[in-house]
Amino acid sequence: MATSKKTQTKKVKKFKHKPQQTKEIKAEEHRLNNLKRKEAKEVKNKRRKDLANLKKVWKTNIKNATSKNQKKELKENYTRFFKDGYTQNTPGNIVDVQNVTKFYVTKRIYEKVLDNVSFQIKEGEICVLLGASGSGKTTLLNILSGLANSDSGHAIVLGRDLYFLNEKKKTKFRKDNISFVFQSYNLIQSLTVLENIKTGFALRNKKDKHQMNLDEILKVLGLEQVKDKYPYQLSGGQQQRVSIGRALAKNPKILFADEPTGALDEQKGREILEFLYQINKKYGTTMIMVTHNPNIALMANHVIKVKSGHLVEEIHNKHTVNPKEIKWA
Ligand SMILES: Nc1ncnc2c1ncn2[C@@H]1O[C@H](COP(=O)(O)OP(=O)(O)OP(=O)(O)O)[C@@H](O)[C@H]1O
Ligand SMILES: [Mg+2]
Repeated sequence: MATSKKTQTKKVKKFKHKPQQTKEIKAEEHRLNNLKRKEAKEVKNKRRKDLANLKKVWKTNIKNATSKNQKKELKENYTRFFKDGYTQNTPGNIVDVQNVTKFYVTKRIYEKVLDNVSFQIKEGEICVLLGASGSGKTTLLNILSGLANSDSGHAIVLGRDLYFLNEKKKTKFRKDNISFVFQSYNLIQSLTVLENIKTGFALRNKKDKHQMNLDEILKVLGLEQVKDKYPYQLSGGQQQRVSIGRALAKNPKILFADEPTGALDEQKGREILEFLYQINKKYGTTMIMVTHNPNIALMANHVIKVKSGHLVEEIHNKHTVNPKEIKWA
């Protein structure tokens, strides 16, 4: 029997109906998401209020200053603290992470990516952030390097509370103090090996006396033979060495690396880690490196394990292992 057009449409509509149970689950998910979104909003508002109160206290102190000199000094300190972010790290440390929380709230989902994370990093350490995919490692690295903001808590890096820096000041902070090595090298394709490394050299702090010169960098990284080649003429391992060379040429106070061996096979990866290990030993450069490979963590003085946005374990290795002796998998 032929069905009319009207019944056909009706049938299709009926088919589209979701079972009652799915509807209920969706409604519950929606309710929970709204609650979490509210929590994120409350945390942000509390932070804003705390900051406003703190500023109020400072302003009252400035107003009540007993002499012109005291007023001037308080005003200067106010600017240094709130506008330039100057503060102090705890003794012996160059990174202090205090109760850092980070949310991502998109239209449909809410996620607490970092939950109340606290730790310290000492000058000259190799520190590894270790965790499974999605655990929040890159987010944490981005907060420490001033590429992202925390929603609550503080990241005090090299005597600066990054929360107080605006984007312009954060850019300057990165330019003056840190270098990055990424999984995907990020080299400038139209420049040779030497020219790519020189771009890092141009950014160095000229007052710093302990600097590696270009020849030394090329030698340490074994790039002398390929210095006039372009990135596309190099192997993955060589390209990653160039990106390390560029990072070192800047003579950073901290070198950040996000899965620097992620795109390499075992042999090349091991070689890259050995370079980083030797550089840390020779020049004392502080390194903060992300990995999901627990074996790589053996080369670190300090391991911070992250799971679903929580710091689950911290390990201080008395003895570190040279990457060439590490069992890879
Ligand atoms: N810009 C963003 N917007 C929304 N969610 C994000 C954003 N960036 C990251 N996330 C989410 O935050 C969580 C942590 O991401 P992150 O990149 O820090 O993880 P990861 O540990 O570095 O993972 P991987 O090892 O895969 O690189 C993930 O669930 C991710 O989906
Ligand atoms: Mg990552």
